[in-house]
Amino acid sequence: MPVARLLVTARLSDPAAVERLRDAGHDVVVRDEVRPADADELRRLAADRDGLLCLPADRIDAEFLDACPSVRFVANHAVGTDNIDLAATAARGVAVTNTPGVLDEAVADHCVGLVLAAARRIAEGDRLVRDGGWTGFSTDLLLGLDLAGATAGLVGVGGVGGAVATRLVEGFGMRGLYVARRPHPELEERLGIVRATLDALLGEADVVTLHVPLTPETRGMIGAGELARMRPGAVLVNVSRGPVVDQDALVEALREGRISAGLDVFADEPLPAGHPLTSLPNAVLTPHIASAGRLTRSRMAHLAVDNLLAMADGRTPPTPVSGP
Ligand code: GLV
Repeated sequence: MPVARLLVTARLSDPAAVERLRDAGHDVVVRDEVRPADADELRRLAADRDGLLCLPADRIDAEFLDACPSVRFVANHAVGTDNIDLAATAARGVAVTNTPGVLDEAVADHCVGLVLAAARRIAEGDRLVRDGGWTGFSTDLLLGLDLAGATAGLVGVGGVGGAVATRLVEGFGMRGLYVARRPHPELEERLGIVRATLDALLGEADVVTLHVPLTPETRGMIGAGELARMRPGAVLVNVSRGPVVDQDALVEALREGRISAGLDVFADEPLPAGHPLTSLPNAVLTPHIASAGRLTRSRMAHLAVDNLLAMADGRTPPTPVSGP
């Protein structure tokens, strides 16, 4: 087996995954940092490498690939691949893999957490108690949305969207609408959810959850017009990618108080300190941690390593996105 020169671009939550690369006899450089590398550092570290294990914050674009022509394969430690310019990798014959499937349940759990937190105003209640502003039980304190019998609108029903639909319908007694490029008869039969247009879903759903990859088609798909179509009192939850939503339009909609939101992803990450979202009580914000189950992150790391080892050996990787 040839020895490959590999770079792991940041510390992984499970060091055993990285050890597998060394045990396989490869020349492994690990950037032992939690913070993502900036573009210059990434280029410097990758300059003599054959393959990378990288994170969603690492931009693998034409400029990077031209600066690091030795890089022939990239294993993304994420299901989303919007940090990678797939046209640029394809044009240069660079293979790309991702980590689908293993994070579906954890991301769905977090999504439902955000649904509950926004619908039942849990973060607002937490702040009220901590800040000493709670004056005692009252019948109209922090009234929120009842989930049982309400309508969930799922935008995308791949692995994550399907797992969210299962939780909201079977666990909370919601009815469900979904938007997808093709019908999903198995989900329709099992959960009784119904396929709809985006416009119809936005007009009917009390809870809208987003589960689409970021592509040129989905960038900004929830803009001012779509937010205006949402029902008064509805909840929008985004666990996909920030730019799927027009964040400035969302800030305006939240300021008007017509809807509330649970957001794990943002237009720019990290969300800058003092961003208008941070002062809106009807927004629940988490720092891109939807897949951060201990076991899930370990599974993601091992799947990324499986992919990297396969590509280093010239085998077909388990979860390819695009070939060499
Ligand atoms: C995380 O955001 C992922 O795409 O896996």
